[in-house]
Amino acid sequence: MSKVAVIMGSKSDLPVMQDAIDILNEFHIEVEVDIVSAHRTPEKLFDFGKHAHTKGFNVIIAGAGGAAHLPGMVASLSPLPVIGVPVKSSNSIDGWDSVLSILQMPGGVPVATVALNGAKNAGILAAQIIGASNPDVRDTILSYKESLKAKVIESSKNL
Ligand code: RP5
Repeated sequence: MSKVAVIMGSKSDLPVMQDAIDILNEFHIEVEVDIVSAHRTPEKLFDFGKHAHTKGFNVIIAGAGGAAHLPGMVASLSPLPVIGVPVKSSNSIDGWDSVLSILQMPGGVPVATVALNGAKNAGILAAQIIGASNPDVRDTILSYKESLKAKVIESSKNL
């Protein structure tokens, strides 16, 4: 059974991160959600990062805003793939701080960074990582892509 961890630095990130949870639910992939702050609960962050791979998770999605250390710190501790979601939070100047804090990781510690507030794509990417070795999830992704195509064809008919 595949499982994705969706963590975020604050409850205030949840409206953005909900998009990842929703698409993973739509794909019938198990999700566990938690708040893990790099700055306010560093011990919890360390514990989560050290042990996530022993708890059945396949992928970690981590969202944070402003001085967004959470995804990079989790990536430094965990052998699992980490997808970072930059959040345009109340303490973010213009979103670039969140993007660059997550995107510009040094060599050796990758974080797959999606667009600003791009939690939906983080959920899809997590499913695709799982789908690389899980034929059921891969079929779900193929159906999803067909549905995207059908929507475009339908909307071009209705112009
Ligand atoms: C970051 O600071 C969190 O990820 C959030 O995006 C931002 C603001 O947090 P709150 O002050 O709303 O709790 O660490």
